[in-house]
Parts: sequence; C-alpha cells; structure tokens
Amino acid sequence: MCGIVAYIGKREAYPVVIKGLRRLEYRGYDSAGVALLNGGKLNVYKKKGKVAELEDHVVGKDLHSVLAIGHTRWATHGEPCDRNAHPHLSGDGKLAMVHNGIIENYGQLKKELLSKGHQFSSDTDTEVLIHFIQEIKKSNQCSTEEALRIALKRVVGAYVILIVDEDNPDTLLAARKGSPLVIGVGKGEHFLASDASPIVEYTKEVVYVNDYEIAIVKADELILKNISNEIQTPYIQKLDVELAAIEKGGYDHFMLKEIFEQPQTIFDSLRGRLDAKAGKLTLGGLREHTDLLKEAKRIIIVACGTSWHAGLVAEYMIEELCRIPVEVEYASEFRYRNPVVGKGDVIIAVSQSGETADTLVAMESAKEKGAIILGVCNVVGSSIARLSHAGVYTHAGPEIGVASTKAFTAQLAVLALIGLKVAMEKGTITEQRFQHLLDELEDVSDKVAIALELNEQIKKIADKYKDARDFLYLGRGYNFPVALEGALKLKEISYIHAEGYPAAEMKHGPIALVDENLPVVFVATKDSYYEKIVSNIQEIKARKGMVIAITTEGDQVIPGMADDVIVVPEADELVAPIISVIPLQLLAYHIGVLKGLDVDKPRNLAKSVTVE
Ligand code: M6R
Repeated sequence: MCGIVAYIGKREAYPVVIKGLRRLEYRGYDSAGVALLNGGKLNVYKKKGKVAELEDHVVGKDLHSVLAIGHTRWATHGEPCDRNAHPHLSGDGKLAMVHNGIIENYGQLKKELLSKGHQFSSDTDTEVLIHFIQEIKKSNQCSTEEALRIALKRVVGAYVILIVDEDNPDTLLAARKGSPLVIGVGKGEHFLASDASPIVEYTKEVVYVNDYEIAIVKADELILKNISNEIQTPYIQKLDVELAAIEKGGYDHFMLKEIFEQPQTIFDSLRGRLDAKAGKLTLGGLREHTDLLKEAKRIIIVACGTSWHAGLVAEYMIEELCRIPVEVEYASEFRYRNPVVGKGDVIIAVSQSGETADTLVAMESAKEKGAIILGVCNVVGSSIARLSHAGVYTHAGPEIGVASTKAFTAQLAVLALIGLKVAMEKGTITEQRFQHLLDELEDVSDKVAIALELNEQIKKIADKYKDARDFLYLGRGYNFPVALEGALKLKEISYIHAEGYPAAEMKHGPIALVDENLPVVFVATKDSYYEKIVSNIQEIKARKGMVIAITTEGDQVIPGMADDVIVVPEADELVAPIISVIPLQLLAYHIGVLKGLDVDKPRNLAKSVTVE
C-alpha cells in the first residue's frame, strides 16, 4: 500500500529510485513521483498513473542528484491525480516528503495549520504532516530532525515517511510506525525502501527499522534514534533473496511465473521440515511452543483475503487432526468487536506480506490480552513475523503479482505441517495416518506440476467463458475455501463478479442466479463429500447452468454431467486443496489476460494493505 524508495550516495540517484519504484509498483500504482536534491536545489516531478507515465513526464528534465526519494501511490486521502501524488512539499518549498500509511488526526492538524495561514495544494494527509513539521521548525527554531520528532509525538496513525531538506542536502530523514521500512547498507551509500526488492541488486546488508525509530541517513553514516532522541544500535541482517526471484524470468506476467513456480515453492516450504522416509516432522520455529499449542483451549486464525482462505482450510485440518476448536476470523472484524480472547488461546496470524495492518492490530490486541501469537508469514523479518511469539515462515519467495497464488499453497503446506505436528504430539492421530499424510505432502509438489500441464486446456476454457457476467464457485469440506479462493482470484484479475459458496448452501439463495448464462465452477475432487457434490452438480444442470468441474483422475461420473472437466491428480482430501486451486488460478489468469487486463496490477488493488 504505497511504495517508498530513496537513495543517498555517489551514484546518480534518479535511475536507482525509478528502478526501485518499478519494483515496488505492486504496492500501489495510482500515481508516482520523485524528489531529487541536487546540491541545494529540490526538483519534484510527479504524475498520475503508473511509474512508466512518470518516466515519460521527466524526459528532458533536470534529473541530476545523489539524493532522491520516490513514491508509488495507492490512494487513501484524495483521488488519484497529479496534485495528490507524492512527494509533497512544505509551505516554504524546502522540505519534500513521501509517506506510506495514514495520519488519522490530519483533520485536526490541518485546521490548526489553516488558522496559521498555511495553504494546501492537495487533499492528502501527507501534505498536512510536512506543513506541520515545517511549522514546528519555524516556531521552535529547531532542526528538521527535531521538528520531525516533536511532530511524531502528536501524530496518530501509521506511517513510514522520508524527508529531504534543501538546507541539508547530505541528509535523508526517515521514520516508521506501523508500516515497513528497510535500509540497505552499501559502501558509502544507503538505499531505503518499503521492502527489500529495490535493494537486493545493490547490497545484501539491511537494517529493518523498528516502530518509533527515526533514521538519520547520510551517504556513509546511518544513525538510528528512538522518539526520545536516544541512539539505537542498527542491527544489520543478511538478505536471503536473489535478484532472479524478483524478475519475470521470461514469463509474460509475475502472476503466471508465480503460478508455475509452485512445485518448487511448495517443496521449499516443506524442505528441512518434512522427512517422510524417516517419518519425521520438525518445525524449528515452534519448538518452544508446541506444548502451548497442544494444550490450547482454542486456536483462532486471523488473516485477510487469500490468507483468510488458507486459514479456513487450516480450520478443517486442525480440527480433524488435533481435535482443538478452531475459529477463523477476518482480522478487521476480530479487532473491533472486542472479542473474548486471553490466556490459553493461541492465535495464528497468516499473512503473505507480514505487513497487513488489520492482521497486525488484531494480533496486537490479542497479545495484550494474554494470548500466544504464532505467525505464518512469507516475508522474513516482516512486522507480523516480529510481533509473533513464534512462527513458521512459508518460504515461497517474493510474491510480486498482486493476486496471491504461490503464497496460498505454501501457507496450506505449512498449516498442514503445524496441524500434523500438534496432532502427533497430542496423540490425536494414528501413526499410520500420520505417515500417510507425510507421504501425501511429500508427493504434492509433483502433483501440482501435473496440474500445471493443464494450462493450455484451461486457456481454451477461459476463452469459452471469458464474457460471462457472473460466476459461481462451489465446493464442500476442504474444497469450500478453495471455491472462495477461486472466486476471489477471478474477481481480482478479470473484474467479473464471482461468488464462492459451500455447495450445499447454494440451495438457500444463490440457486436463484442459475440459468443458461451462469458458469458454475465446482471443486469436486474425490473426497468424503463426493456423493453430495455430485447431487449439487445435478441441481445446477437441472436449471441449465453451465458446469466447469475440477475432478480427480479416474472419476467416471462427473465427466458425464459437466460441460467442461478439468482432471487433477488424486490426493488425500487434506492435501487436495493445494492441487485443486491450481486450475482456478490459471482460469482467472487466462480470463484476465484474454480481457486485455493488467493481471499483475489489477484495478484499485495493492499487494500489501498497510492501512486499516
Ligand atoms: O499479505 P497478506 O497475506 O496479509 O494479504 C492479505 C490480503 O490482502 C491478500 O491475500 C489479498 O486478498 C490478495 N490480493 C489476494 O489475492
């Protein structure tokens, strides 16, 4: 949700920042802008639209500088337009700021500033903040750094901000609360960004800035202070990401690349943890907390979007394997309804980015009430990972496409491992079933690779149905959350209205939608609900709906009923969602592409939702 990037050093800063913005564009792409400080002169260029439009806009302009900040926006305050694009300037034009997050009390601050004669040229909270800092600087006769510190004590909300100051052309200021900020440490240069992707090609040494810290960054010096002006020691970590992981590698889109990476990413999420031959399962991240999980009165999974769907699958898994009650909550609802939660509860926060604001606040409030928090995150060092008492990384590698694909299957694999580990320790699973599921998980990457061979067939199906106005996705049991995920993928990528439902629930309302124009996707692999879902297919066919069925190889019944059949390899029902979701990801992808849409950056979306 907004990407920020900055460079200070000896190189030309603009090419570094613009390349960084392209890498961060998945976080927001309503408008983009840069502020370049060339000696004592500030040049600000900004443009509505994607980064490419900014690049066109700056052709022929003065781009020279060794210090620059940049921003790619996902609009919160004010429509996407040139005027609201970042960077924003202070009233005297000497300070430029980019910001990711929301200043919740900006209305009050703006009122105060207006009464002091400030004028604003945008609708943003960011412009208010930079004016506020300038006002403090003027009235207190202090440095920009001091004014920033004073201002942040009054600010309510979440932010990462970067500031350049015409009067201090060798210093970049940064501050963080609630939104991510990574600083890459080079030789005589520093790189700042919302995540490591703009940094990885220059340096592997990074510092993750903590909440309430201010960074004073020069080319060859990095000083971290807390909000009380006390020096903090920067903790330098090594990045474990290769450049190839954040490039398209010959694919037309990141989404397609990430779909096709899944045999490998699922393997990576299991590697070092699952040893089916030896009948062993190790989860280092949970070592000290397995007992707490085993004894949990209740497990509450909090997440959003696709991660919430993974949580729903985990509910089925954990309840079946561990006999512990599981609730799956939308993080945003859980946080604000004053839930009954406390000691004895274990919260599992599931998140690809590890930065989703709703999930973070849900965890924080449960932690305050005494619950144990486990994180299932993809991004190493992310806020959710750091806020958790313990956790397991999904190791799917950087996911750039806005629609989550490989993160989902890695989450399912890791959540299955957690369920199996607890069940084994608790004694709620037989050795035979435990071994069977280890074997199934060991084989799942190969089965996903087989499912990916259906790509061309699915492309043809996509062509047949791409003009439908609505879609219904139905599944039962473990495949119900897969139906939800399939519908979400289609909505995001193709802007076609799609609903996911438990197949049996269809009779209680959605069946009214069924006619010869409605494609209904059934996730109907062989499992304990199979006979029931066959009846549901009949109910749709009786009303002339068009059925696209995901079935298991060897199925003799459904192919005779459905209009289109997609056959995936057989698997235990607990593992099947990892395979049955693959055709749904491909179907959404191809429909989006056939409709000529930007599948990597769908309308109105952002990869990482860092505002509540
Ligand atoms: O990074 P997270 O997993 O916490 O993100 C949660 C949702 O914002 C995310 O899954 C979103 O729904 C995706 N666009 C789904 O494709």
